[in-house]
Amino acid sequence: MSHKVRQVAVVGAGIMGGGIAYASALAGTAVLMKDIAQRQLDRGLAEVDRLLARQVAAGRLTDAASQAVRSRITPRLDYAGFASVELAIEAVIEKIELKHAVLAEVEKAVSADAIVATNTSSLRVDDLAATLARPQQFVGLHFFNPVPVMPLVEVIRGTRTSDATLATAVGYALALGKTPIVVRDCPGFLVNRLLTAYLLGFAQLVFDGADFVKVDGAMEAFGWPMGPAYLADVIGLDTMSHIIEVICAGYPQRMTTSALEPTKVMATRQRLGQKSGVGFYRYETDANGRRKKVPAPDSYELLAPSQANGRREFSDAAIVERMMLPMILEAAVALEEGVVESATALDTAMSLGLGFPKAVGGPLHYANQLGLDKVIEMSDRHAHLGPLYVASDALRRMASQGSNYSF
Ligand code: CAA
Repeated sequence: MSHKVRQVAVVGAGIMGGGIAYASALAGTAVLMKDIAQRQLDRGLAEVDRLLARQVAAGRLTDAASQAVRSRITPRLDYAGFASVELAIEAVIEKIELKHAVLAEVEKAVSADAIVATNTSSLRVDDLAATLARPQQFVGLHFFNPVPVMPLVEVIRGTRTSDATLATAVGYALALGKTPIVVRDCPGFLVNRLLTAYLLGFAQLVFDGADFVKVDGAMEAFGWPMGPAYLADVIGLDTMSHIIEVICAGYPQRMTTSALEPTKVMATRQRLGQKSGVGFYRYETDANGRRKKVPAPDSYELLAPSQANGRREFSDAAIVERMMLPMILEAAVALEEGVVESATALDTAMSLGLGFPKAVGGPLHYANQLGLDKVIEMSDRHAHLGPLYVASDALRRMASQGSNYSF
């Protein structure tokens, strides 16, 4: 049986922790927001204040309602009060040793029947559960950035996660007004796994001489809310390059990365994207306090070593084909492996988690639209670029039988 979550604790007050605390408080839940340093807590609270100010400015919240939401969040430098929460969500950085240490502390601080969740974006839930005393009460709750606007929560069931824990996690995501999709435990789960395939397609285009601004333009014209370089800037290039590394390590037969991978190149130079003011692009705040992206010509110099044969022009159609193909092929494999229960769940997750172009529907709808025989033809034409572009045997069989994904 599921438990209603009246009080929640969020551990780690970064972009994601701050967003989860905000979304929970907005939905009426009391929140303990914990971090190890006052400076980080202040940053998390500043993010909450910024989000609330936007709601007030847009006329969606009164001042009084905004203050009521804010008063539900209690910042903490220790675990006081954790004994009364029903759910604690860990949202610290993606280092497995750190997550193990924090999760062990959290498990000791909460009551014996509380649920502990991780907002990990790339580590496996079972690997994180390995050192826990109550793995049956542990689950993945993966939110998307920016948390207040992205409607998806991936709920990840580890091997030992109980039905009651899963039900509570699903209920909590619903209470926040999000759409939960239950995903099997695997590196990157569903959305970041497919996003990584797509960003490796982006890396390969850059290696082959493409201009990242042109790639962003082509993908935005195709219908994505943000091109790949801009999206990586928003997620944070340190976070993104680390996610790519961890997910590549999880699928070594299909995905590889290197120090020349574009998000890694930027992160190594401390160009972390929007949060540091510069990544692929530069970010300025306009007169209305809105963040605006402007060109950063020095990015081309930083990427030059990644382009062994210099720059080359690609048509928009060629860019779209080379970017979308790895995502479609990885979607096919994920569905074959049962990472989600259906083609509908897969496409819905990609739409709600990443803003997949609405007119296209999702990677598997897109594969149907193109025709699976056309997908195989594209795969054969790009197979020389590496295993990321090679269709699975099962997809080939479907194409040769003239079948489609069913929705
Ligand atoms: N925080 C809070 N709200 C924000 C926001 C932010 N950072 N950015 C935009 N919004 C809100 C705006 O206030 C606006 O709300 P209203 O319509 O209610 O006024 C709404 O979002 C639309 O904003 P804009 O019109 O300014 O801009 P947009 O139409 O381009 O939409 C976007 C912004 C929703 C972020 C859109 O660009 C988008 O969907 N981008 C893709 C984001 C994405 O893919 N996220 C997932 C990344 S992967 C990940 O997070 C997983 C991981 O583990 C790293």
